[in-house]
Amino acid sequence: ILYAANTIHTVGVSGEHTAAGGGGNASYKRINPVSEGSCTVVWAVDHYDVFLCPHTEKGDFLALDLGGTNFRVLLVKVSDNGRQKVEMENQIYAIPEHLMRGSGTQLFDHIAECLANFMEKLGIKDRKLPLGFTFSFPCRQTKLDESLLVSWTKGFKCSSVEGHDVVALLRKAIRKRGDFDIDIVAVINDTVGTMMTCGYDDHNCEVGLIVGTGTNACYMEEMRHLETVEGDEGRMCVNMEWGAFGDNGELEDLRTEFEREIDCGSLNPGKQLFEKMISGMYMGELVQLILVKMAKEGYVFQGRVMSALAHPRTLQDLLRVLRELGLDPSPEDCAATQRVCQVVSTCAAHLCAATLASVLRQIRDNKATDRLRTTVGVDGSVYKNHPQFAQRMHRMVHRLVPDCDVRFLYSEDGSGMGAAMVTAVAYRLDMQHA
Ligand code: BG6
Ligand code: GLC
Repeated sequence: ILYAANTIHTVGVSGEHTAAGGGGNASYKRINPVSEGSCTVVWAVDHYDVFLCPHTEKGDFLALDLGGTNFRVLLVKVSDNGRQKVEMENQIYAIPEHLMRGSGTQLFDHIAECLANFMEKLGIKDRKLPLGFTFSFPCRQTKLDESLLVSWTKGFKCSSVEGHDVVALLRKAIRKRGDFDIDIVAVINDTVGTMMTCGYDDHNCEVGLIVGTGTNACYMEEMRHLETVEGDEGRMCVNMEWGAFGDNGELEDLRTEFEREIDCGSLNPGKQLFEKMISGMYMGELVQLILVKMAKEGYVFQGRVMSALAHPRTLQDLLRVLRELGLDPSPEDCAATQRVCQVVSTCAAHLCAATLASVLRQIRDNKATDRLRTTVGVDGSVYKNHPQFAQRMHRMVHRLVPDCDVRFLYSEDGSGMGAAMVTAVAYRLDMQHA
């Protein structure tokens, strides 16, 4: 834990401030983010405060949310009759496995089709609405509406997308159909969307954390610490892509044979090594590999090797799951399986706490304060659904940074909403300057 907590990378951002793209001259700035070490700074939103006060926005905004368990299309309606009201319609669409690993064209055609279906259903297909795209993969973001995929993660592997601008690919798919049009205003990461959504309710929110299929965090950094960005004033949001922590060998002392095996058999070997130690996509497999080894060595299941394992919660559940797998577990086997699940998930929670603690220390040092009060916006299926993950992570964060009063604010499906919020503000700024 201490190792991870003390060695988190400092991030660098290079590039220039440019006027807003997308047809206007907004008063927020853009930067060209870069990769440095294992951290990819994929997006920095300048003037977070502009985004934090979207209370003056109104109108209808679309959002797409790709990269988590669910692919979602949203319509966010913001009305203002004296008092701002935000309403949301959303629909989950499946991304079949063959599309996750097919061609990029097929994937973006499918996304365009889902969008068309959604707009058709809501009777808004004839309107050219502004859209925010939450695309939760490592990207090199060059403008608010231009983001080049660096590499696929989390089981996606579509051809001819890496190195390309995902907004351009989506625009092309929509244009090809010719039955509707939209204005893609912004592309953001899910961590940023989560922080934005939580920031709407709690202005102290300066960290966005995801522990779900993948894991990642973003936080507000002082401009003066972003050496390669012009200007020292204000703060920027830095997407850390911490799932890639360890890709340059930093975690070699910590990684177990099971994590190495998972990595070797994955679609992206050698990449996202920290993510493979803690996120939901890999946790079940970790448990499985440990149990297989224990079985091979004759410690459980009378030496019988199982081929799959779900996520058991109670001993009763466990018994059922193991029986479904064709095993005849003894009470000791159940207890051993439960213990392995506990160890794996606790380890994940503590590693996550350790990296978060170093981010909090950085924020505290930035503010030169003895006691930091801050809020972390969190989302993701592991954080939400695992019965003990959140509590264990919170406890460890408090142990590692006892001088920080941290509030964890859960944001249910907040990333899509965050994209709509960013879009709403960017759209208004563009309009003001048009
Ligand atoms: C959702 C967000 O709530 O959480 C997604 O809207 C995000 O954009 C996701 O990627 C992360 O969690 P999971 O568990 O679905 O990967
Ligand atoms: C992966 C992605 C990252 C995303 C995270 C959580 O690590 O690379 O962009 O934020 O998953 O969904």
